Amino acid sequence: MPTTLTVNGRTETLDLPPDIPLLWALRDGLNLTGTKFGCGVAACGACTVHVDGQAVRSCQTALGDVAGASVTTIEGLGNPAALHAVQAAWAAAQVAQCGYCQSGQIMQAAALLAENPTPTDAQIDEAMSGNLCRCGTYPRIRAAVQDAATRLKEA
Ligand code: FES
Ligand code: FES
Repeated sequence: MPTTLTVNGRTETLDLPPDIPLLWALRDGLNLTGTKFGCGVAACGACTVHVDGQAVRSCQTALGDVAGASVTTIEGLGNPAALHAVQAAWAAAQVAQCGYCQSGQIMQAAALLAENPTPTDAQIDEAMSGNLCRCGTYPRIRAAVQDAATRLKEA
């Protein structure tokens, strides 16, 4: 049975098995390839998207379980003309190295700031601890989250 959900503000109906991971529905069904596959077992955070505003691991979320929900991917967080504060902070700090983990990092950071607009460094480290970066960009991630918090406060 097809699944209807909202993705980046658009209503989408996907004729895919309901047990397919949301990650593959996004990438293969909707060609939203900004969300990455890393581990497939909810252990790296590369596949992080928002479901009704919460950060979730799309590799371990069944498409059928998000029927009717509102999903946001990195493609829908902002756009080149109007970057989300987290994206702007990431660009300013040149956080990315290889970049593979970064869409998941940004989605996790955006969810953190939506819940806690003034996180301490310790709270940032805790919230981001499930998002792995093989390039070791953690210090720049922490600084960029603090910068994004400032940008959001001033917006
Ligand atoms: S690919 Fe989903 S957490 Fe690693
Ligand atoms: S920037 Fe390379 S894995 Fe994070």
